[in-house]
Amino acid sequence: MHIHPSILSADFVNLESELGSILSADAFHVDVMDNHFVPNLTFGPQMVESLQRVTKRDLDIHLMITDVDIHGPKYAELGVSSVTYHIEAATNPVQLARDVKTRGSRVAAAVKPNTPVSELAEVLPELDMILVMTVEPGFGGQKLIESTIAKVTQARELARSRGVEIAIQVDGGVTEENIATLARAGADTFVAGSSVFKAVDRNRQIDLLRTLAQEAARG
Ligand code: DX5
Ligand code: ZN
Repeated sequence: MHIHPSILSADFVNLESELGSILSADAFHVDVMDNHFVPNLTFGPQMVESLQRVTKRDLDIHLMITDVDIHGPKYAELGVSSVTYHIEAATNPVQLARDVKTRGSRVAAAVKPNTPVSELAEVLPELDMILVMTVEPGFGGQKLIESTIAKVTQARELARSRGVEIAIQVDGGVTEENIATLARAGADTFVAGSSVFKAVDRNRQIDLLRTLAQEAARG
């Protein structure tokens, strides 16, 4: 069970100290938005390089961008631990997954709430992780869309039916109230933005989320 705080909810002017406040994290989730694929604008590759200078932790890069076939592999070249692209944005998802992996990063494909998990069937053997979006991508602080929980189960079943060992990440509205349900549905990697950053003790909140997920998965 891995907890990846999203730095979208951090204070962007003080990112180095913000990273220092979430050291219980298993990796840092970095939301790259281009104001085209989603109606919001955040970081680019230069910011990712700056983050790498102040932390040795794994960076989990979530690309919410168009033209991801061209730009996705460039993030892998920076040496990040994983690159996630949206299946809705990729022109050739199989080739893109291979281009990321040959550059040394793990690769994941994401589905928005209204995109069926079956869209991932073809690319599945190339992937290290599936990201099931539990909110519409673009902004932190939204409420989890309940209907997406069934998609987590579908993603787990799809992987099982194909004999594929894969991580399943959820992103959006993850809190201490719903993380157990998500873990039971089959998720093992949890992005949490506002629920971590608004906590008085952020490391304690990360540990609480991880414990709740572990207990739920054990049954
Ligand atoms: C939304 C982003 C998420 C976001 C999650 O498009 O992909 O990573 O930061 O934030 P919370 O946990 O506040 O929903
Ligand atoms: Zn994200």
